[in-house]
Order: sequence, then C-alpha cells, then structure tokens
Amino acid sequence: MSLELAFDEAGTGIPLVLLHAFPLSRAMYAEQLAGLANRARMIVPDLRGFGDSPGPGDADPSVDAMADDVAALLDRLAVRSCVVGGLSMGGYVAMAMLRRHRERITALVLMDTKASADGDEARTNRERVARAVMEQGSAALHPMLDSLLGETTRRERPGTVDQVTEWLDAVRPDGVAWAQQAMAARPASFGTLRDSRLPGFVIVGEEDELSPHEDAVAVAQAFVPPAPVYVIPGAGHLSAVENPDGVTGALRDVLRHLKMG
Ligand code: MLT
Repeated sequence: MSLELAFDEAGTGIPLVLLHAFPLSRAMYAEQLAGLANRARMIVPDLRGFGDSPGPGDADPSVDAMADDVAALLDRLAVRSCVVGGLSMGGYVAMAMLRRHRERITALVLMDTKASADGDEARTNRERVARAVMEQGSAALHPMLDSLLGETTRRERPGTVDQVTEWLDAVRPDGVAWAQQAMAARPASFGTLRDSRLPGFVIVGEEDELSPHEDAVAVAQAFVPPAPVYVIPGAGHLSAVENPDGVTGALRDVLRHLKMG
C-alpha cells in the first residue's frame, strides 16, 4: 500500500520531480527548488521513512514501494507525466518508477547513482549498517560522512559538513534500516534504461567515490542514444549539496534540451 509523502512544490512549467539520497530528505534540494522554480514545476518529496514522511510501515523493504509512493503523489497532484531526477538512492527509486510507472515519465536525470545491483559484500555491509543504526541510533552513520562528501567539501566547506552531519543526526533509525534492506534487494536496471527509449541525462560529482565516474558512464551508455554526462567540479557523492549551483545549472541545461526537443 502506498504512503502519503510529505513534499515541497514550487513553480510552473514542465513537472520535475527530484528524489533524495540516502539517508537524507528533501531538504538536500533546497537550492535546486529555489533556483529552478522559474523554469519548471518542482516537486520534491521525502521518501518513506525519511524527513516528514511517514515511517516505512510494514511493507517488505523495496525500492518498488518507494516508487509507488511517488506515483501516488503524482496522482494526488494530478500530474500525468514528469521528468524524474534522483540522486543515488533517489536514482534507484527513479529506475524503479521506470519499471513500474513508465507512462508517467518523460525523461530521466540520474545523479551520482548506479544501475548495477549490489554484490554480496555491499549487501552484507547494508545489513551491518541497518543493525548498527537500530542499536546505536544515528551516531552509527557518522562514518559515512567521509564517503558521502568529496575531498574539496571536507577541506573547504565546514558549513556543508555541519549541515550534512545535522541531517544524519535527524534520521529515523527504522527508516534507515528499511531503506538499506530495500536498496540491497534492488535489481540491476541497465536493460530497463535501454528499453525505455526515453531521453536520459547523467550528473556526477567529479570526486564521487561511492558512485564514481565509471558508474556514471555505464548508466549513460545504457540509454539509447547514450545520455550526456555532466561532471560537477569540486563535488563528491552529494553533488547537489556540495556544488548546488553546478547541479542547478546542469538541470537548467536539461530543461532547455527538453523544451527544444
Ligand atoms: C545514497 O547516497 O543514496 C547512497 O549512497 C545509496 C547507496 O547506499 O547505495
């Protein structure tokens, strides 16, 4: 059963839905919401278990359930079709939407994400993090900071480091554990992207270590024709937070292409 998601909405024009990373919330897109509302109808939800949305509920953990929640939000807003963008976990949910709600999507923007499924080691690590967060609370997530943020941010942007630390401290442990299990269960999506015949756009922080440039290229090449890749300077995995102007500019360019196309 789908859940009613909390969301922000601003602007008019092409609907553009942005789906957030793990373990953050819609707050990570504040700059894009403000910077693009003069070009698009921005719709930015909290996925289930995060931010102001309800907890994960008793559904089996899956990115499909998260995708269905977003489709239900589109129903509530009477949005028939939209551009869907997702960063990392948000990208996994965008690809699940493509599998389950293809008719709602006009183009995809995949940011700092990958189309491969987890290997055994990644799945085991997710189980470990899920257990640790349930036992110790959000402090168990602090070691993630170094891999979420690029070297430039860690060195030069203390305000961003503090902001992301604050967001990690605010998570719901049950939401984090459920999402880890959901991501562990996700399938590979290369075939889904290839068969979609939709325009795709890929964005990646140049210092992203979790979904590095080679993952971005593999995602881009799965589209037919291959998607352009925007590399965001001075940013790691959380490119939209670390270099918000860079990502907003890339999204502006995407919207320009789609309007022309
Ligand atoms: C994210 O930023 O959403 C995570 O890195 C996704 C993941 O754990 O695969």
